Amino acid sequence: MARLDVTEKFQGISFPGHLHTKDSLEFAVSFLFKDTDVLIVSYPKSGTTWMQEIVTLVSSRGDPQFSRTVPNWARAPWLEHYYCAAVLEASSPELYSLFCVIYVSRNPKDVAVSFYHFHKIANFLPEPGSFHEFLDHFLEVYYGSWFDHIKGWTSHTEAINNLLHITYEQMSLDLHGTIKKVSSFLQCPLVEDEVNNCVKHSSFSSMRDNNMINYTLVPKDIMDHSKGSFMRKGIGDWKNMFTEEQNQYFESVFTSKMQGCTLEFVWEKH
Ligand code: A3P
Repeated sequence: MARLDVTEKFQGISFPGHLHTKDSLEFAVSFLFKDTDVLIVSYPKSGTTWMQEIVTLVSSRGDPQFSRTVPNWARAPWLEHYYCAAVLEASSPELYSLFCVIYVSRNPKDVAVSFYHFHKIANFLPEPGSFHEFLDHFLEVYYGSWFDHIKGWTSHTEAINNLLHITYEQMSLDLHGTIKKVSSFLQCPLVEDEVNNCVKHSSFSSMRDNNMINYTLVPKDIMDHSKGSFMRKGIGDWKNMFTEEQNQYFESVFTSKMQGCTLEFVWEKH
């Protein structure tokens, strides 16, 4: 299994070597989905893990047993990671009757701050340097540009029949409503008690204390939790991190990169 060299790119995008190989990335791009698959798509640090937990809980009608006993990467493996094929071979439940895509996005300023802190605990990512330096590189970090990701996926909303776009901010501001939306999208309507249980078990504090989702099971040489925790802050932390100058710089990059994009972003209202 040939790990990607840090200087190598796959289809123009850099991926950290320890989880990605050329074979695993080829596997992901040529993967044939079944009609019963549910795909969660997101740029890193946008609420991927949160949506994994929500989808798990919705599938188990709010019962936390599965989400408390099986690590998230075994319940909802990343298609591009080297272990995915083996996980899917071992277990690939057919829970739903139609192919669905859930796209999760987040205010890119919070994404940048979250990604910056994640670089400090993830030993497979380079040292981020100062936040100023990191922000300068935000467009060229591993996994490609946030702007290309969001433009690419949101311009496909009409082409892909079953795509639900949820923002991290919607999840934060109305978790109950988001869970109802996700469950009805997955054609798995829940009764009120079941929704409430999903809300309870996917709350920040529940997830922070569940070692099947907070990544504390990951060995220290991969993620060093003495340097910070995965479940960190949540919404709006960019305001504590960005200087006025950095904010203006980011706004100008955002305006020029997102030209022609008609999406209305919920985070602009807060
Ligand atoms: P912060 O670093 O800003 O705290 P991803 O799973 O895509 O890597 O995203 C990680 C981010 O989602 C982290 O953001 C993490 O704290 C946040 N997150 C995960 N579960 C959450 C929850 N239940 N409530 C609020 N934020 C959550």
